[in-house]
Amino acid sequence: MTEQHFISPVYSKDISEGTVTWESPSNIALVKYWGKKQHQIPENPSISFTLSACKTITSLTFQKKTATENFDFEVYLEGERKPDFEPKIETFFKRIEAYVPFLKDFKFKIETKNTFPHSSGIASSASGMSALALCLMSLEKQFNPEMTREFFNQKASFLARLGSGSACRSIEGDLIVWGENETVTAASDLFGVKYPFPVHENFKNYQDTILLIDKGEKQVSSTVGHNLMHGHPFAERRFEQAHENLAALKSVLESGDLDAFIAIIESEALTLHAMMMTSMPYYILMKPNTLEVLNKIWAFRKETGLHIGFTLDAGANVHVLYPKTESENILKFITTELAPYCQNGQFICDEIGMGAKQLNN
Ligand code: PMV
Repeated sequence: MTEQHFISPVYSKDISEGTVTWESPSNIALVKYWGKKQHQIPENPSISFTLSACKTITSLTFQKKTATENFDFEVYLEGERKPDFEPKIETFFKRIEAYVPFLKDFKFKIETKNTFPHSSGIASSASGMSALALCLMSLEKQFNPEMTREFFNQKASFLARLGSGSACRSIEGDLIVWGENETVTAASDLFGVKYPFPVHENFKNYQDTILLIDKGEKQVSSTVGHNLMHGHPFAERRFEQAHENLAALKSVLESGDLDAFIAIIESEALTLHAMMMTSMPYYILMKPNTLEVLNKIWAFRKETGLHIGFTLDAGANVHVLYPKTESENILKFITTELAPYCQNGQFICDEIGMGAKQLNN
């Protein structure tokens, strides 16, 4: 399949105004996407758990107008106009214009809010871009009611990817693969697909407690980080490793081997940060408390034999991953031993989710 598949016909139907609302979750990668080609095409495949509690809720209000040269939209976060968000949306609209032919025929009001605390260091780009892509697809569906659900989700993921790569993994749940590879042959560089193989009971309702270690703005954005993989001394080997880890994860997901699962995800997390530390210029996004927490997790795991593991995003926060059946003791440990390393003792309890939901028609 190529990009052509997502170019819409020019619609003859007339739609004058309306509002659509979607809530879309964040996701956490188990095998990380780090490094991209042009147009947000990933250098390597990735796989993620879709989350449930951490989400963005976006309403798109549209009103037909005479088509003009420029896009016409306003963005509101929690009811407050956010002109500083507009350049990012403008860039997104430019990137998707070829696939969404009616963008300049409407005046849009984009109203958005997140369920997680503002500036918590949790990236809202995956949930935010996927929620907006889904709203645009709901509008497109009004022009083309015959569109199948499969195409709707695929194109929503395709558009979300053009907003922020990892956002393409937030449309559906519970495990999503993005990027061509030899393990999941149905996967695409253009959009995320549901993981198609058997998954052991151990991974159902898997828990993700997000420790808010540092809520400050990142010193180096993901966009800059991805670009530093061009000419990176270890890039090629890292891209191969992502393929190997995805293949290894397939048998682990099927067998339910939690120790092997933890070894893969922790290695992936530290490799992501190792890539940052060995970029030129080099940088470190982990904070002293990130390392304190990782050591505490390792010691607790050794002492108790419980299946607590971690992964990291491009930031200082730690995602603590564990099976639901072990959550009583692990949550006690998090509250007493790990929360003191979080800013203001804050953490968010999340778990695997099934993807985005439309909130109106
Ligand atoms: O979607 P972006 O461009 O913000 O990249 C995010 C990359 C990581 O979160 C670090 C890894 C991933 O696969 O989500």
